[in-house]
Amino acid sequence: SILIVDFGSQVTQLIARRVREAGVYSEIAPFTLAEEAFRRMRPKGIILSGSPAGVPEDGSPRAPQMLFDAGVPILGICYGQQVMSHQLGGKVEPGNQGEWEGEFGRAYITVTKGCALFEGLWQVGDRHQVWMSHGDKVTQFAPGFEIVATSDGAPFAVIADEARRFYGTQFHPEVVHTPDGGRLLANFVHRVCGLAGDWTMAAYRDTKVAEIRAQVGDGRVICGLSGGVDSSVAAILIHEAIGEQLTCVFVDHGLLRMNEREQVETMFRDHYNIPLVVVDAQERFMAGLAGETDPEKKRKFIGAEFIEVFEEEARKIGGAEFLAQGTLYPDVIESVSFTGGPSVTIKSHHNVGGLPARMNMKLVEPLRELFKDEVRDLGRELGLPDMFVGRHPFPGPGLAIRIPGEVTQERCDILRKADAVYLEEIRNAGLYDAIWQAFAVLLPVRTVGVMGDYRTYDSVCALRAVTSTDGMTADVYPFDAAFLTQCATRIVNEVKGINRVVYDYTSKPPGTIEWE
Ligand code: XMP
Repeated sequence: SILIVDFGSQVTQLIARRVREAGVYSEIAPFTLAEEAFRRMRPKGIILSGSPAGVPEDGSPRAPQMLFDAGVPILGICYGQQVMSHQLGGKVEPGNQGEWEGEFGRAYITVTKGCALFEGLWQVGDRHQVWMSHGDKVTQFAPGFEIVATSDGAPFAVIADEARRFYGTQFHPEVVHTPDGGRLLANFVHRVCGLAGDWTMAAYRDTKVAEIRAQVGDGRVICGLSGGVDSSVAAILIHEAIGEQLTCVFVDHGLLRMNEREQVETMFRDHYNIPLVVVDAQERFMAGLAGETDPEKKRKFIGAEFIEVFEEEARKIGGAEFLAQGTLYPDVIESVSFTGGPSVTIKSHHNVGGLPARMNMKLVEPLRELFKDEVRDLGRELGLPDMFVGRHPFPGPGLAIRIPGEVTQERCDILRKADAVYLEEIRNAGLYDAIWQAFAVLLPVRTVGVMGDYRTYDSVCALRAVTSTDGMTADVYPFDAAFLTQCATRIVNEVKGINRVVYDYTSKPPGTIEWE
């Protein structure tokens, strides 16, 4: 395995991800706990992460000195390179001196000497794009090291001590802006550390199952299912670990897509045999939403009501001290405080926002280290059908934020039908996986139409489809006109209450993906 020593960089998890991609097991330990982790893991290699701190600053973090004496290969990245140089007798100078202001963003390095890190990848004389982000720099390397690549801003872009198998890169190989970075890290773990690369999601599953068992013991766990991929994968994994000690709660607030509740019931109860409580709370939600047209008030009501319903169910189930959540790495902001240990802040999860604090329960979050696509891989590993694993994201407040104006049972039913037709067309056209999210919106606008010999006066439906990688920005999906015509025709013909269909051509920004 590989031990990743975390000095608090925002991208430490990306190092772990690249190592996973190379098929090698790794664990991240904050620098304060790294020695303990080393003794427990007996890793075949160590990676030192970057940091928001600077080596010349007073009180900035250091690696446990014993790591350098352990006879294990080490790769220091950015701050990791600097701290290694410093601790082994070299010199690091602060950025704000003289002409030097640091190197940020895309940079080019030139390979000046061969080394084990570059084997089969980079040749002497090659120039390669990398991603730099540093103010401080090494000005004198430690005894035993030599330069193997340089950049304009950092003469010590890559340094190596082949005898001890210590390497340092000033740039960040873990980010995508360093195109060969993943392969460089793979070289480190395979060639330098001699690890085989046979670790897989199946192994991740086993590790997590063992961890969950150790954490929970014979305690009871409640998991709020949203019907989405994350909470489903978390629930299935936890069930594998502790079986009937887990109870899942699915709140049907009446704002779900067509057949969604039935799908969840079938999958969890029948297929996986997971204890599942389905709460039929449609009436409560509809009653609370009656007369409300303000988007934020709708959202707040749904969030608060959701917590209320969930708490009531938890009380009924009774005795659970753990709450399971499908929190992913992007939901987690991790920071390392330089005096104490690691401190972790969790962004309030959209779907169960505020639950942990209110309920005073311990959290079980087996997906905390994973990115969305890795959760999908794990889902497949756990036997979830592709169709489910690849599902588009669906917001916690559900259809309510796709019905501008007042939400009523009738309008939910109309929207559900239109949405189902639209998605069926998208699937039939083979476009589902190329789209990040596609859905219908029911507008509080009525227009005049003609069907047969009759005048109609009905609602307008807007269709939306976007591509995105993280939901933060989005582009409009460019359907061809014939496809949109087909959707419009079917929706107007098949869904009573809609007589006009429009397509939303707004990217994000300036629009948001959802309409409210
Ligand atoms: P916006 O509308 O902000 O949406 O561009 C970005 C992504 O977030 C989803 N979204 C939510 N997800 N609870 C959720 O779980 C919410 O309250 C919520 N609001 C928006 C949205 O569907 C899109 O994927």
